[in-house]
Amino acid sequence: MTKYPGAQEWVPHDGGMRKVRAALGDCRGCDLWEDAEQAVPGEGPVRARMMLVGETPGDHEDKEGHVFVGPAGHLLDKALVEAGIDRSTVYLTNAVKHFRFERQGKRRIHKTPAASQITACHPWLRRELEIVKPSLVVVMGSVAAKALLGSTFRVTQERGRRLELPGGGLAVATVHPSAVVRSEEFRRDFGRFVDDLRVAVGLLD
Ligand code: URA
Ligand code: SF4
Repeated sequence: MTKYPGAQEWVPHDGGMRKVRAALGDCRGCDLWEDAEQAVPGEGPVRARMMLVGETPGDHEDKEGHVFVGPAGHLLDKALVEAGIDRSTVYLTNAVKHFRFERQGKRRIHKTPAASQITACHPWLRRELEIVKPSLVVVMGSVAAKALLGSTFRVTQERGRRLELPGGGLAVATVHPSAVVRSEEFRRDFGRFVDDLRVAVGLLD
């Protein structure tokens, strides 16, 4: 496993989210900054009660500099509406802040970040958690689960129920919205994704 320096030395330990966002672009905690267009910071109110954590920016997010603006984001938007969650009230971020991809001709194909890159990037997510202090975190997909719930956590087995984060606070795990986008049983899997989000809403009440 490649040993990266990790993001710690680039993460501001005082100040608020504005300072975090300003510092993110300079991060050299792993090698993912080299080929990506930009680091993509989390978005949403710093007082949000709910934080949703995805994997990494995709092709669209990397170009536009905003989280969840591509196909997975559109699906997430629809699911949030179905679950009665207003996107503008939640804090949305990723476990890893730079896009990882492989070139195939002109296309950039998403590649799952390595465990070493998830670990390297974790100080940013930790700082976001410290600042936002969400009452509940929705952990979307296995990369976010690795970052927040440990390497042995299995999303498919433990999705849709009340969990406690190792560092304290409530969480609900679910699949990543891009897995629903690709699903051959779309209606069923979209329904399950919405059900998991509803569990999260229920825990906030
Ligand atoms: N997938 C993610 O996990 N995050 C994004 O921002 C976009 C797609
Ligand atoms: Fe830093 Fe994370 Fe980007 Fe790696 S992926 S360079 S740790 S911000």
